[in-house]
Amino acid sequence: MAETSSELEGPDFQAGCEIDTVPDGGMLAGHAFGEAILVAKKGPELFAIGATCTHYGGPLAKGLIVDCTVRCPWHHAHFDLRTGEAIAAPALNDTSCWKVETRDGRFFVTGKTNKKSSRKPKSSPANVLIVGGGAAGNAAAEMLRHEGYNGGVTMISGDECLPYDRPNLSKDYLAGSAPEEWIPLRSADFYREQKIEALTNTSVTGIDPRSKQVTLSNGRSLSYGALLLATGAEPVRLKIPGGDLPHVCYLRTLTDSRRIIEKTKEAKRPVVIGSSFIGLEVAASLRQRKLEVAVVGKASLPLEKILGRKLGELIQQTHEAHGVKFHLGRTPTVIEDRHVRLDDGTTLDCDLVIIGIGVRPNTALAEKAGVAIDDGVLVDEFLQTNVPGIFAAGDIACWPDPRAGRIRVEHWVVAERQGQTAARNILGAREPFVVPPFFWSNHFDLHIRYVGKGRGDHQVQISGDLKANDASVTFRSNDKVTAVATINRDFANLRTEVAFERGDEFRAV
Ligand SMILES: Cc1cc2nc3c(=O)[nH]c(=O)nc-3n(C[C@H](O)[C@H](O)[C@H](O)COP(=O)(O)OP(=O)(O)OC[C@H]3O[C@@H](n4cnc5c(N)ncnc54)[C@H](O)[C@@H]3O)c2cc1C
Ligand code: FES
Repeated sequence: MAETSSELEGPDFQAGCEIDTVPDGGMLAGHAFGEAILVAKKGPELFAIGATCTHYGGPLAKGLIVDCTVRCPWHHAHFDLRTGEAIAAPALNDTSCWKVETRDGRFFVTGKTNKKSSRKPKSSPANVLIVGGGAAGNAAAEMLRHEGYNGGVTMISGDECLPYDRPNLSKDYLAGSAPEEWIPLRSADFYREQKIEALTNTSVTGIDPRSKQVTLSNGRSLSYGALLLATGAEPVRLKIPGGDLPHVCYLRTLTDSRRIIEKTKEAKRPVVIGSSFIGLEVAASLRQRKLEVAVVGKASLPLEKILGRKLGELIQQTHEAHGVKFHLGRTPTVIEDRHVRLDDGTTLDCDLVIIGIGVRPNTALAEKAGVAIDDGVLVDEFLQTNVPGIFAAGDIACWPDPRAGRIRVEHWVVAERQGQTAARNILGAREPFVVPPFFWSNHFDLHIRYVGKGRGDHQVQISGDLKANDASVTFRSNDKVTAVATINRDFANLRTEVAFERGDEFRAV
């Protein structure tokens, strides 16, 4: 959790409201029985569901209605307007659903209702093993149950913790503004109730596709009917003298983030090596802890390769305005107890080093099992690998995106959505994965949302005012829109997502 919305606002739906105040295809935020509710109209039908997104509390009434769903403006979760069900990540919990009655041209919200229908999968493998307990693995496990699958579900994770909100590890949690209890995605009780066996501290060491068996680090063997590979990625290690000193940290896991936080109790001058998303988010969070932060980056401008010059400059200026010192176009040559030395002879004082120079997908297990690999695990549009019964999702999956061709990305929402799609396909849905890639990144008060798959050297068009934190940046290649990044224009970002889905790139602004 990071951002939260809304006190109760708008009309009292219990007292009633003119039907005409809700536009056809539109929404109205209000309240009833002390809860925030949105009422949506589609032709003659009125729907009422909880108005607050169950992910981070986004205001759903400021989102977008698509078919019979509403999409959250903040990170694009989908909720079913008929039932309040969370049907696409990153929201995992349903919102409430309310009864609406009409009389004399007015509507009234008269109480809560439960319209969830029970589901039955098309096919049911004997059991499902999920390798990995991160974004994709957890979302898949939950979706299997949501779809009514009753067979065994085992989620095996090398991590010592149950699944947690990884994006928060470099943001509010690291900054000290999100408490530890916001970080787990689910409690141990949740997995017990859902009959999901969630193994932690346990790695899968081998897969035998012929006998459909996996071996675990604790010596056990498990058989599977279907297998999902969701092993994620791990940080690239910096191999320079001093790279393994005790004050040198990486950030991938909750344990890593806790370790950095522990060290900030003594440290005053951290040096962040790497000026991409994670490095910069770490820098922003450590500044919020009032530390003197320096960032060393190989590129001459942060994130230029991904976001282009103008956004790169804005991000750098935002960090500088908050006191972050940059050493760009530089690489570190040696790390010492109290210093980092750079290739131009500069010596930076430091008592903590955090390295964020990229990640590498964890594909060794898949490769050993004979699964086809090429910059990630190759999957088809149904997220199936070349090995029957084995699917892959998340940071490791390299899939055929209908717009960008074969891609692999490292985005939270993509990983969760792929986990959800893979789960449905394991149950016979044959649903292609066509979701446009989406990610967000926070730098102090600069919150960027990005949809599509562009590159910094694509043609860039800016509408709005970057300096005022109110802009859309459209990336084009060969006259086709490849991506749109927005700042404080969440609705434009949602509209672009829908335009991409409909193959309507030219209206994607
Ligand atoms: C600090 C940080 C901040 C981020 N912020 C954002 C953000 O703001 N927005 C965004 O879109 N994305 C963000 N990301 C990226 C996002 O978190 C990843 O894209 C996402 O977690 C990928 O999900 P995944 O399930 O593929 O892998 P992971 O979440 O990494 O999970 C992989 C799991 O597999 C386990 N595993 C690996 N090998 C084995 C094995 N052999 N046996 C058993 N288990 C194994 C691991 O222990 C882990 O539990 C961030 C990432 C980090 C590290
Ligand atoms: S707050 Fe709604 S998707 Fe994140």
